[in-house]
Amino acid sequence: MKEIFRNKIFRFILSSPASKQGEFRKIDGKLLLKNGEEVFFLEQFSPKNQAFHRHLKVEELEKFITDNFGGNFRQLELYDAEFQHSFRAAKKRTLYNKHRHNENFAVKSAQNREKNYILKEGMAIEPLIELGIFSRDLKIIKAKSDKYRQINRFIEFIADATASYQVGDRIRVIDFGCGKSYLTFIVYYYLTFIKKLDAEILGLDLKADVINKCNLLAQKFNYKKLKFQLGDIGKFTDGDGVDMVITLHACDVATDYALFNAVKWQSRIILSVPCCQHELNSQFDCTEFPMLQRYGIIKERLSAILTDNIRAELLRSEGYKTDLLEFVDLSHTPKNILIRAIKSNALDDKKRQEILTEVAKLQEKFNFKQKLYSLLNPAL
Ligand SMILES: C[S@@+](CC[C@H](N)C(=O)[O-])C[C@H]1O[C@@H](n2cnc3c(N)ncnc32)[C@H](O)[C@@H]1O
Repeated sequence: MKEIFRNKIFRFILSSPASKQGEFRKIDGKLLLKNGEEVFFLEQFSPKNQAFHRHLKVEELEKFITDNFGGNFRQLELYDAEFQHSFRAAKKRTLYNKHRHNENFAVKSAQNREKNYILKEGMAIEPLIELGIFSRDLKIIKAKSDKYRQINRFIEFIADATASYQVGDRIRVIDFGCGKSYLTFIVYYYLTFIKKLDAEILGLDLKADVINKCNLLAQKFNYKKLKFQLGDIGKFTDGDGVDMVITLHACDVATDYALFNAVKWQSRIILSVPCCQHELNSQFDCTEFPMLQRYGIIKERLSAILTDNIRAELLRSEGYKTDLLEFVDLSHTPKNILIRAIKSNALDDKKRQEILTEVAKLQEKFNFKQKLYSLLNPAL
């Protein structure tokens, strides 16, 4: 059974209770999205057929099944993308068989995600119309549907991270590498008009033409607290009092400078979707495992993954509760990791040192030096 948990599980059913006196006669768990994160939604049926609902984290599934199957329930169905795996706890051994099912769980999950969008088709959101994501009759323009999906997903993460903010609360946000600023405008719209916060947002980018255009657009919408500034993330100094730093596809080490700034200013929330993680790829040299650099595509992907893994660990070492989450489905963009870091308690020196030592060992093994590591630890 352990093997099966390596696959993504979309549904499970525990049935055939060991005792009629048991609390539940059946538990049906389905993978759904809640606040942008995948969780299992459990329907638990009592012997009188009342349904009780609860959520179960994805990482808790295996333990939940192990705790319940064999003891409380004799029958288990596990559905991965392809197969329905059936287990029966008999007296002396567990019987197992599998067959291909016809369910399309991946699609269902994506549809569910669409349904939960915060910014829905038909909503008169000026920036979405002006930036060409919605048509004048408030329909998504097909060519921009990926952008629409990304923005919505990002807003879901922002909604989650700002859940404790109340109407009228002040929040200062910086979007580093804002580019054409689809996201920046929508974050302003969401925080100001949907969440009704006192939001002040700054978008920073290297490109003068886009910065000028964005400032004109902000004036046109009368978005008084949305400003755009020309500048280099690495040289930006006006970040005191920032509550949330966001980046969407800030290129290569620009993400590291943004994360470094956020840490330096103790930003409470960091949400960052990196891209073009080329830095390690150009240095990567692992004599112990030459196969890891034999195939360009593997080396490139491994470098990108190691980069984001190191970034997450470094944020953890700085007292952030950090997660790496799926941003949008891989089928829409390969840039699909979002780094979410929420300021928490400072780590004690020993734990911090353990993280830095582990990163240092990894760097040594692959013969690279990661930018955020150097920025945060200039003496090492
Ligand atoms: C791929 S675009 C993403 C734009 C926007 N965030 C989006 O998702 O639509 C990356 C942007 O980062 C900006 N950028 C890259 N390095 C930068 C730096 N060091 N300082 C400021 N902006 C930077 C680029 O000019 C570009 O507009």
